[in-house]
Amino acid sequence: MTDAGRHPGITLHTMSEVVDIQGYVGNFDVKILKRARYVDEKECTACGDCAEACPVVRPDEFNVGLSSRKAIYTPFPQAVPSAYVININECLGHNPSVCAKCLNACEKGCINFHMSDEEIVEKVGSIVVATGLEPYDPTELDEYGYTRFENVLTSLEFERLINAGGPSKGELVRPSDRNLPESIGFIQCVGSRSARKGSGYCSNVCCMNTIKSSLVLKEHYPDINIKVFYIDIRAFGKGFEELHMRSRRLGVNYLRGLPGTVEELADKSLRVAVENTSSGELEYHKLDMLVLAIGIKPAQSTQKIREMLGLQLSSDGFFLEAHPKLLPVDAATRGVFYAGCAEGPKDIKESVTQATAAAGRAIRLMHKGEISTEPITSEVIADKCNSCGKCAEVCPYNAITVDVKKKTPAVVNAAACTGCGTCAAECPFGAIIMNHFTDEQIINQIDALMEDRPQEKVPVFACNWCSYAGADFAGVSRLQYPSNMHIIRVMCSGRVNNKFIWHAFLKGAPVILVSGCHIGDCHYIDANHWTEKRVKKVWRRMEKLGIRPERLQLEWISAAEGVRFAEIMRKMENLRCRVSSREIADTIKILKSRKKKP
Ligand code: FES
Repeated sequence: MTDAGRHPGITLHTMSEVVDIQGYVGNFDVKILKRARYVDEKECTACGDCAEACPVVRPDEFNVGLSSRKAIYTPFPQAVPSAYVININECLGHNPSVCAKCLNACEKGCINFHMSDEEIVEKVGSIVVATGLEPYDPTELDEYGYTRFENVLTSLEFERLINAGGPSKGELVRPSDRNLPESIGFIQCVGSRSARKGSGYCSNVCCMNTIKSSLVLKEHYPDINIKVFYIDIRAFGKGFEELHMRSRRLGVNYLRGLPGTVEELADKSLRVAVENTSSGELEYHKLDMLVLAIGIKPAQSTQKIREMLGLQLSSDGFFLEAHPKLLPVDAATRGVFYAGCAEGPKDIKESVTQATAAAGRAIRLMHKGEISTEPITSEVIADKCNSCGKCAEVCPYNAITVDVKKKTPAVVNAAACTGCGTCAAECPFGAIIMNHFTDEQIINQIDALMEDRPQEKVPVFACNWCSYAGADFAGVSRLQYPSNMHIIRVMCSGRVNNKFIWHAFLKGAPVILVSGCHIGDCHYIDANHWTEKRVKKVWRRMEKLGIRPERLQLEWISAAEGVRFAEIMRKMENLRCRVSSREIADTIKILKSRKKKP
């Protein structure tokens, strides 16, 4: 942090919050709200005279409330810049007659109550999202008595307690009587891997944190009795299993099973009831202190940043990477990268590795000076555009702007457009051309396909990234599937305009398949949600027209699901066999006789 603060190429905005982000790769405008420090950070030498004079005492957030601070304070010992800050909401007032003791105590005159918040706009080419994490609050797990018993702490509180810079200067003390505890227990997976409360995923760091704490304790207090209650120990990093074994060799007692209840005894010690799943026995353990190894949650700001940058979240609420194996630090939005726990629970080493990779990716993108984009982008035919705004609404990348009130034609930002084609599929006026995947090109493919013996053929609209790759995988795996399946490749299933479906039916298609990535896995954030909506609309219309909706199928197939792809193709062939020539002819008749297109 200190190095970053001193680096001439790095501007640190402390006490700041990103309030808005506009733009696209290579050209982002980031609006920052910088809160007033009320202390001149260049002049302040952090002597501490002001804090000594300040009469306000508040819990110290850095020590999770285990110690106190003043209303003028340094957030934590290594804070950059090394300068004091005033929490203006806690301050008794800057009118000298109210308080202003700090003002008098500061000989250098660094304190300035006339400072105000300022708004800054930074122009940047790429963005690394490193929003960190939120620790799990174990209040809802009442059985562990966190809110009721003084000697039950979270792992974060315990960390501060045994830290040399912590409230007891690294001395282990029991909160209730400030004595050295003789026994201490750790409960693992608090708020993690639980279908009931907290989250279902593994928080990744808690096992090793407990093992580290047990080693520190054994080093300083060899006679202390340590018990760890766990489901299973996950020590999968380099050298981690060795630390786990060392902890066991030092006498730390690992008990397989999570406690059911915790009671407080008269002397403030704790009685823990646990079913030991190794022995199958119900056991009671008397402990002086209990530490809850709390899990990790996505940071509070995640949702806000997601909205500002149009990012995607995975089902656990962390940011979703563009590809889990090939682009693990990239966001689907070009020019945005992830570092640390923003993307999922990680330890320090993993976070540093990912941050280094993200910085490298950002530099690689920026150092060229100019950015080349794929030519597969959409274009607006201004004469046809009715300024309805539908294209802008469905664009997953906010690449289209349209002033609905002024009725000016939509404008596509080619640098931000990634070519999913959802806008072209949704435009009710046919005002958008999807370069390289135009309506004409796709209609011509359908026509060519249906020219000869259409009743024997099945048009398959497949997205490039998953379904088409699934077909590839089925091919390289030598899986057999009917040869009358004809793939019409589009970049995303979101490109499949309803008119392609109606056109294929009109040309005699017995059945049609639209396939894309699984919901949540679309390469273009959430473009396949629109596919789903449109296909449902066609189903409803088919029903009204007396055409069996089963003849149009929608399937999600991932790139790794070659077997599933082959299975679905066989299913489509079965469906095709059940469609008679008469039914196809009737459908053509119905569609031709319609006055209005469905
Ligand atoms: Fe496959 Fe969007 S990229 S459905």
